[in-house]
Amino acid sequence: MIYLDHLASTPLDPLVLEAMLPWMCPDAAGNPHAAHPAGWRAADAIAQARGEIATLVGARSGEVVFTSGATEANTLALLGGVPAGGGCIVPAVEHASVLACLPELRRRGHPVTILPVDGSGRVDPAALDSALADLPQPSLVSVMAANNEVGTVQPLAELATVAAGHGAILHTDAVQLLSTRAIDMAALGLQGLSLSGHKLYGPMGIGALVVRAPLRPVPVSAGGGQQRGLRAGTLPTPLCVGLGAACRLARERREEDARRIGGLRDRLWQRLRDRLPGIRRNGAEDGLAGCLNVTIPGIDAADRLLDLPELAIATGSACHSGAGEPSHVLLALGLSPADAHASLRFGLGRGTTEAEVDEAADRLTALLAG
Ligand SMILES: Cc1ncc(COP(=O)(O)O)c(C=O)c1O
Repeated sequence: MIYLDHLASTPLDPLVLEAMLPWMCPDAAGNPHAAHPAGWRAADAIAQARGEIATLVGARSGEVVFTSGATEANTLALLGGVPAGGGCIVPAVEHASVLACLPELRRRGHPVTILPVDGSGRVDPAALDSALADLPQPSLVSVMAANNEVGTVQPLAELATVAAGHGAILHTDAVQLLSTRAIDMAALGLQGLSLSGHKLYGPMGIGALVVRAPLRPVPVSAGGGQQRGLRAGTLPTPLCVGLGAACRLARERREEDARRIGGLRDRLWQRLRDRLPGIRRNGAEDGLAGCLNVTIPGIDAADRLLDLPELAIATGSACHSGAGEPSHVLLALGLSPADAHASLRFGLGRGTTEAEVDEAADRLTALLAG
């Protein structure tokens, strides 16, 4: 199996597993919210993990709210975070977990604006400026840091300046950015950030919303009042520790990973471009190191991939694969439904090798030429 689907999920890093294992053993029993030594030990480990997460994104430990993943973090930011009387603005290329909140926000009476993007998937700060001028303030703006289908990175610094000029709140879904690029919430003036363990070589089933005033989400679930009441429920110590370890590794490795993975992505693109006439690349050229999204006009990508079971690549976002709908991201970039169906997404990651990239290109081109 050649695994080139790191944007859907990254393998657990062995060092993360090593950090988690002691907390999965029977002698590590202890509810981290309990007032006895076993509970305090678990609580200490979780506090350390919070520190690693906060350091990765330029925030404070107390601003980290653990969730089950980024879907829940985005839901808490949007359904819980749009201020009373305010509106909500999101670009058309957001992840389904953001877009799916919009009908409920509209039902509650909040005006909602979906911003168009340019042909590479980028939001124009001037478009945000005029959209904000039409909404009551404070409104909530949610813009993903990097897109999960085409890898385009948004101009967050400029968007943050525009949002601040209107007194709006800015949240970002940074799920895809963090493994290869730095982000600093304090320096950018961001009030909310979502992240996910399994896009960061950490465990599945854990993520976080990092949140600071004036973003004050109301809880979207009821329960025992843990995490300042924002997200109740017993914290899963091994998963929290794993997320913390993944964040520390990301900080140590992201520059080297970005350089090496970006080189492999360029090599893959060159090989495909040289052998498949008419192939086009989607998204911005300066996008995420690990993402290569291409259209090979005339093919039915999902159908052709059935002939390459040894190659794990995507035809759209993982959440949509199999649904048969053309990717909403590619349509927002201006592709026709037929071209969207003719598109493939390669997701390269920390473990990807040159040999794998070459073999993937060979197998795909042989299949399409045959
Ligand atoms: C950009 C983006 N946001 C949110 C999510 C959802 O993350 P999770 O699987 O942790 O719920 C994903 C996962 O595909 C994603 O790529």
